[in-house]
Amino acid sequence: SQSSPSAPAAEIGVIGGSGFYSFLDDVEEVAVDTPYGPPSDRIALGVLGGRRVAFIPRHGRDHRFPPHRIPYRANMWALRSLGVRQVVAPSAVGSLVPEHGPGTLVVPDQLVDRTSGRAQTYYDEGAAIHLSFADPYCPAGRRAAVASARDAGWEPVDGGTLVVIEGPRFSTRAESRWYAAQGWTLVGMTGHPEAVLARELALCYTPLCLVTDLDAGIEEGEGVTMEEVLRVFAANIDRLRVLVAEVVQSLPATRDCFCPNVLDGMKLPLELP
Ligand code: ADE
Repeated sequence: SQSSPSAPAAEIGVIGGSGFYSFLDDVEEVAVDTPYGPPSDRIALGVLGGRRVAFIPRHGRDHRFPPHRIPYRANMWALRSLGVRQVVAPSAVGSLVPEHGPGTLVVPDQLVDRTSGRAQTYYDEGAAIHLSFADPYCPAGRRAAVASARDAGWEPVDGGTLVVIEGPRFSTRAESRWYAAQGWTLVGMTGHPEAVLARELALCYTPLCLVTDLDAGIEEGEGVTMEEVLRVFAANIDRLRVLVAEVVQSLPATRDCFCPNVLDGMKLPLELP
């Protein structure tokens, strides 16, 4: 690889569906290993609008990892080891709000974890590390994402709560109605532990949530299906790819947010890559 101490391989990471390979120029693929095993797949390194970007297909390029089996720790660790400090994370989600129908872009500002049994920390032993997660996403990244989306002609929803379920099944109607009654906005399967692992590595993390369906509670008929999710995602992948490229280019070159400092003063039980 081209990495050297003075020139990290990448500064910005993108974790997304396999539809994102083609958006990088001068791509080089690297196999990275981590203390948590290999990431979902080889990582594509390339340039986008002058920014060096590392791309990981979240589910592997043949989509072999269901949401509850994605090697989240390896993915985030691998990105950091390549030099990445800011992560942009597009994903497909269901909407719990009828007004935010399929095709809507939401940049949530809150998260509720309803997953179970996923490895969700690097700080498992050797020290008790408790990080603030009150605001799970990078404020500067969110601002850049919303502004880029507006410029690109989307009408993005700025804020909202993403509830992350364990999956791989979709929610029952009762679960979905319950989530909506809490005032939550979106339901997905991959937003956790991605965001908290980014926080634990002092990375900026910005979610870009594309609504593919109205979840079971507000959907007439049979409820959400995989076919529907894939169809709507495919119908929006070109504009989403353009948007991700714009967001990458609009991320601040210098991180003035709180994200780089969240580990300050802590005696970490391991050395970050
Ligand atoms: N991803 C896309 N649509 C979803 C839904 N309705 N529930 C959970 N994850 C999703």
